Amino acid sequence: MKIITGNPGTGKHTVARILARNIGLELIDVNEMSMHEGMTERNGRVLEVDVRKLKRVLDKKIPKNALLVGHLAPYIISKSKIEIAVVLRRNPYNLEDVYKKRRYDKKKMLENLGSEIIGITYYDTIKNIGRKKTFQFDTTNKSVSSIVKKIESLFVKGKAKEDNVDWLKMVSEKKDLKRFFPY
Ligand SMILES: Nc1ncnc2c1ncn2[C@@H]1O[C@H](COP(=O)(O)OP(=O)(O)OP(=O)(O)O)[C@@H](O)[C@H]1O
Ligand SMILES: [Mg+2]
Repeated sequence: MKIITGNPGTGKHTVARILARNIGLELIDVNEMSMHEGMTERNGRVLEVDVRKLKRVLDKKIPKNALLVGHLAPYIISKSKIEIAVVLRRNPYNLEDVYKKRRYDKKKMLENLGSEIIGITYYDTIKNIGRKKTFQFDTTNKSVSSIVKKIESLFVKGKAKEDNVDWLKMVSEKKDLKRFFPY
């Protein structure tokens, strides 16, 4: 099984849909799946997912040729079942525009931007799935087709050159740390 993860708005579904079609993988959306399985609970305005329950169900249910997509993907499948994990990254300034268009509230916006800047998903994926199986790609200002091509080649050959990402340095040099981390 392969996974595509990354913060909201990094382009997961856009590329996953094309990839699944191109190489004949069964696309599974973690959010849809958890709703369908009744693993989400409404907490005020936010939907919360019971990650432990979801892991138990999904570990059994997911076929080998699956492409699992979602920001929770690295937390809900056992390491041994995953061949390759792709983490999509995106410049926080661009991501901010995506979130504004989606009308995220301030809290949700800052949480997701902070997570992207520090690289939480990348770190957690390496920790949970392993350094050798984890590959990150920067989708900022790249065409969908060029990203699809990179990932497709990784999936077929099992190897790829990762992108270097250091948003924290960039944000700090732009003197924007306070803007993104006003805590
Ligand atoms: N490679 C790309 N280059 C430029 N824009 C892109 C690229 N991939 C996706 N986009 C655009 O970025 C936005 C977010 O993409 P998408 O919805 O696929 O993200 P996502 O990671 O699936 O988000 P979510 O986790 O919220 O479902 C969309 O407007 C999409 O058209
Ligand atoms: Mg999506």
